[in-house]
Amino acid sequence: MIHKIAVFTSGGDSPGMNACIRAVVLAAQHHNIQVLGYFKGYEGLIDNSFKVLHPSDVKDIIHRGGTILKTARSERFMEKQYRIQAAENLKKEGVDGIIAIGGDGTFKGALAFQEHCSLPVIGCAGTIDNDLIGTDFTIGYDTAINTVVEAIDKIRDTAQSHERIFIVEVMGRDAGLIALRSALASGADAVLIPELKNDSAALVAKFEQWKKEGGSRIIVVAEGDESGGAYKVAELVKSGLPKADIRVSILGHVQRGGNPSCMERVNASAFGYYAVKALQEGKRSEMIGFVNKTITYTPFAKAVKHHLKVKPELELLISVLSA
Ligand code: F6P
Repeated sequence: MIHKIAVFTSGGDSPGMNACIRAVVLAAQHHNIQVLGYFKGYEGLIDNSFKVLHPSDVKDIIHRGGTILKTARSERFMEKQYRIQAAENLKKEGVDGIIAIGGDGTFKGALAFQEHCSLPVIGCAGTIDNDLIGTDFTIGYDTAINTVVEAIDKIRDTAQSHERIFIVEVMGRDAGLIALRSALASGADAVLIPELKNDSAALVAKFEQWKKEGGSRIIVVAEGDESGGAYKVAELVKSGLPKADIRVSILGHVQRGGNPSCMERVNASAFGYYAVKALQEGKRSEMIGFVNKTITYTPFAKAVKHHLKVKPELELLISVLSA
């Protein structure tokens, strides 16, 4: 029986995390389960820093970006002594189950925790990068790509006016999904992502074509791309098009903030609700996701181990429309 659960957000924050926390609290209340909200992810477990969450605490948060529980990438949790301390704290508080909202690093932490803590942990996929196996969308991704598209639309206005080439760098250390979708949606002229090898011959051919046609261009580059980022790409473009007027725009953390989109709020709320249900059903070490509009559960070990492959259909679309 589950009477008391811990919930926390960990890793990079993402819009929609608050909607998820809200759903956890309301679903738990529905089943007479008490919720302890731990602050700053695994740091809160180590320091026993938490607050009992009531429905009144989550009343006006569904539309807010960030996370009311704060977040951190805990260095200390990588050390055994602190994981043991966290396990002891949870035992002392009488917690029966844990809901971890975060991404790859969060679930790797949950796997390491298993050695010291027998409590079931359920994960809600939360990261703007959308780089987890077992879900079509992670919490934050939809809002982030809409933020990027809005920014590129604005950049396009000034790019056109000056007939400039803009290199727009978006987030994604290991994953190019933000770059890929936002490039498609904003009609970019080229996109460079870590998952696909850069074809320098094709790029040079493109430069020749741009030279003939003139006008403005938008190149989207994921921060983790092999090129080394927007400034390196700018150098490359300059070498092929010495007369071009080139500007770099790094969108940065603006992509992590803002009010979550409608889809985000709905997905995040569903994840939170089903996380509570999963604990009640005796599930453990699994991540909740949505695949083809259906709630799915993926073992942490699988969700974190594999790197996403770009779907061939998406690759084809990109190659014709934005390569
Ligand atoms: O949370 C994912 C992410 O936004 C990545 O896309 C990015 O590389 C990283 O976090 C940035 O992390 P930080 O905010 O710690 O600099």
